[in-house]
Amino acid sequence: MAGVTPPIRDRFGSKFGIIAAAAGSAVGLGNIWKFPYEVGNNGGGAFLVLYLVFVFLIGVPVMISELAIGRNGQKNAIGSFKAISPKRPWFLVGVIGIGAAFMIFAFYGSVAGWTLEYIFQSVKNGFAGKTPDQLSSMFDNFVANPFRPLMWQAIFVVLTASVVMAGVKNGIEKYTKILMPVLLVIILILIVRSVTLPGAGAGLNFLFKPDFSKINGSVILSALGQAFFSLSLGMGTMITYGSYIRKNDNLGVTAVQVSVADTVIAVLAGIAIFPAVFAFGINPSKGEGLVFVTIPNIFQQMTGGYFFSLLFFILLAVAALTSTISLLEVIVAYFSEEYKISRKKATIYSSVVILFIGALCTLSNGGILANFKILGLNIWGLLEYTSADILLPLGGFFIVVFVGFFMGRKRVKEELTNAGSLKGKLIPVAMFLIRFIVPIGIALVFLNAIGLLKFG
Ligand code: PHE
Repeated sequence: MAGVTPPIRDRFGSKFGIIAAAAGSAVGLGNIWKFPYEVGNNGGGAFLVLYLVFVFLIGVPVMISELAIGRNGQKNAIGSFKAISPKRPWFLVGVIGIGAAFMIFAFYGSVAGWTLEYIFQSVKNGFAGKTPDQLSSMFDNFVANPFRPLMWQAIFVVLTASVVMAGVKNGIEKYTKILMPVLLVIILILIVRSVTLPGAGAGLNFLFKPDFSKINGSVILSALGQAFFSLSLGMGTMITYGSYIRKNDNLGVTAVQVSVADTVIAVLAGIAIFPAVFAFGINPSKGEGLVFVTIPNIFQQMTGGYFFSLLFFILLAVAALTSTISLLEVIVAYFSEEYKISRKKATIYSSVVILFIGALCTLSNGGILANFKILGLNIWGLLEYTSADILLPLGGFFIVVFVGFFMGRKRVKEELTNAGSLKGKLIPVAMFLIRFIVPIGIALVFLNAIGLLKFG
């Protein structure tokens, strides 16, 4: 029977540990620097409704499927498919996942490194007295510097590696259990500051006021891509973490809790950021401009800004770290299990490869590779687009098809009911979503985005 547990397999020790690790993976730069801007710019409340529908009708079923594959297979993202369905090509879904993990860590680690530079700048009060133009060129000069961003990126990878190397329970669980509450407290402090600024209401308007005319095919695709990216789905993170979940923990409940936590934190991040942006009469910019130029600009005009900017960049770094930990774990679990090498060696080797690809991303953002473009995108943009918008939804598609039709009813039921000990009244609903709604939904969004179908 598959699902036999090797005696020494490391696992999460508590319910809170599972949630902290999985929500830690989900909550990241995607929530804080991407989500708020996407909402504000793509129709506010209208985008939010669309996003919520994707999270609960598509994200949650995909997450349940991944957790079930991992816990049933008791292996990494590739090994679990092989254990459940030997001699079938399903493990290729895991192969794409491991590839996506390298790609995401490479470009994500680049930005994660910037957060460390900005913590450093906050500490030495480096934003004080600078005009918006000066802050903007400060950022441009920093990313174009051939050395500094690489140094911070390397430090970030080493930080991630040292947690992963310590293991699932004594590394990942131990640190995410501390870091996630810290993150929540920081966001709440920032919200109190932001919404009590005079003129904060305009920011809330920007975030929540629905404008359905903004919704079109590409907005729908980016809402779906954002849901996958933000929930860390479609590439094996949740398969890998699922394999460390104890047999008596409820997978459905875990998936819902993690998805709710991720969504709540994304919305809270928007409430922390936009009221402040509007209170200072600044135009909301996107992505890196928002986080590394606009925000320092706000803080340096605000009473107590020194303290708040430090908190904000620590928040970003913590959010990024608990996500890169999960990306590295996907890779390390695979190499250590399938090639029978130690966790330590697997961590070191993969980190070196990640740093190499990551350096290419970093240098493409204003450094010596800035003019190297493929399909109009630099290396950073190319990796981001392919992994987040294409590989993740595609991976999610195959994952639900596998669970819905090929994994075998018995195994699926065993995982969803904990071998019969849970009532599982909602299982038929989950199965219906997994088998029909999710694959059809993903397919429609894709067809619509490439123009083969027109709706919205
Ligand atoms: N979910 C993370 C974020 O929102 C990014 C991530 C994607 C992490 C995929 C792991 C796997 O920032």
